[in-house]
Amino acid sequence: MRHIVLILMILCGFISCKQNEQNNTSNSIIPDSLGLETEKFRPRFHFTPKAQWMNDPNGLVYANSSYHLFYQYYPDSTVWGPMHWGHAISKDLLHWKHRPVALAPDSLGYIFSGSAVIDKQNTSGLGKNAMIAIFTYHDPEKEADGAVDYQTQGIAYSHDDGETWAKYDHNPVIKNPGISDFRDPKVFWNAETSSWQMALVAKDHVEFYNSKDLKNWDKLSDFYFPDDPPLGVWECPDLFKMNVEGSDEERWVLIVSHGGNSAPNGGSGTRYFVGDFDGKKFVTDQKSSQWIDYGTDNYAGVTYNNTPNNKRLFIGWMSNWEYAQSTPTIRWRSAMTLPRELKLIKKEDSYYVKSQLIDDFKSILIPVSTDDIVGERPYDFKFKDLQTSFISFEAEIRDSLHIQFSNSKLENLRITYQKANGILTVDRRNSGLVDFNDKYEAMSFQRMSVGKTDYLSFQIVLDASSIELFINNGDYVLTNQIFPSEPFTDLKINNDATLSNFEIKQVKKVLD
Ligand code: FRU
Repeated sequence: MRHIVLILMILCGFISCKQNEQNNTSNSIIPDSLGLETEKFRPRFHFTPKAQWMNDPNGLVYANSSYHLFYQYYPDSTVWGPMHWGHAISKDLLHWKHRPVALAPDSLGYIFSGSAVIDKQNTSGLGKNAMIAIFTYHDPEKEADGAVDYQTQGIAYSHDDGETWAKYDHNPVIKNPGISDFRDPKVFWNAETSSWQMALVAKDHVEFYNSKDLKNWDKLSDFYFPDDPPLGVWECPDLFKMNVEGSDEERWVLIVSHGGNSAPNGGSGTRYFVGDFDGKKFVTDQKSSQWIDYGTDNYAGVTYNNTPNNKRLFIGWMSNWEYAQSTPTIRWRSAMTLPRELKLIKKEDSYYVKSQLIDDFKSILIPVSTDDIVGERPYDFKFKDLQTSFISFEAEIRDSLHIQFSNSKLENLRITYQKANGILTVDRRNSGLVDFNDKYEAMSFQRMSVGKTDYLSFQIVLDASSIELFINNGDYVLTNQIFPSEPFTDLKINNDATLSNFEIKQVKKVLD
């Protein structure tokens, strides 16, 4: 017996030594516990469901010192199906705790996207400080029967911070007026009208509603935009007032996501309008679309209700309907973007919404150990591990700027700026797995006009399967999913550009 134990101990020692050896190869950054094959694309600091399918963020609300993230969730598969609301909570929007599924389909249908509010004054009679979710019911049977009125709006309430929920007895609270895509209610308390107000999409426009009690809703107005050609179906609206940075001016921002092939670099994307809302009607003199993000992987994003200091905090679904259901992950599918703080700025006579990294993001950055840097500095680095990193610098550009991430398999991701035409491009065509879906491949060379300029600043955030690019502190943003078959290790930046304030940090793994 003693011999057997001894042999086993030696064998175990040998195996664990072998594992350590393997883990010191190029994949050492992938934690042991995570089964390489199934989990190598799992982000380390972007929210993902533990398993199965996720899409839109829902019910973003701050309450009792926590941020709640509900999300479109199908607990039985890694592709879209009967929608539930999954749930997670966080103190800082970065460390998330998974909570039980909040809302499940019932006889009225699946639970599609929507929002959540805190009913501080018990206007609904459902309880003081109740958390109230306002969502779309999608009736799959009616849809299959060819009816058009298969989407209605319902409410549910929780008295324990979203842990358990009851559906309101008299749902739906808004019936369908005969429009096939009638969904995604975003409700907020409007202090100017002392009432609850709602933005709701209806196929090709936004409708606004008003309520004193969250149960009875009156339609206020419609908002159309003269798109030529029309964009894909309107989804996931949001409406809020913002201060124009550096002034006392206030404007309203309306966010709308569009399905189909609407976005500047293809597929589904999210645009915004800056205008005025008088408690009844939204108007804008904006002539063309402005987009929240020029990458292909930021969709259905909306902002938090009830935040401290009135910050406008935004989270998007880091995917694109064109290929979302076939991305090469195994046990789970889809992540959220990093949370972003929106700011409204005015340049000449136009208004723009910027997306910035939240202040707390710094708290999860750690120094890169110098042992990890094996290449030439500063513009031709080789790292042991660029899998989760934050890189920032300012560039003075002579003619062009070229940034390239690559790995030993010669896969690469390229970012290029040409001063002559003011165009910035992101090229993920050779970034690893790309042929899992033709549309992903087709949408892998992205262009954005940032204007002709001598200076650009960059913040680049890499996680296992994403790259988020913030230019000029969020004036322009490009979010992309990438699937390198092994992590990038090399970073090259052409040196006819002069870089300053160059910083590279590792990002801590903060999620299970
Ligand atoms: C947007 C969307 C919403 C809908 C939900 C269904 O991605 O299509 O309009 O409520 O997803 O999961």
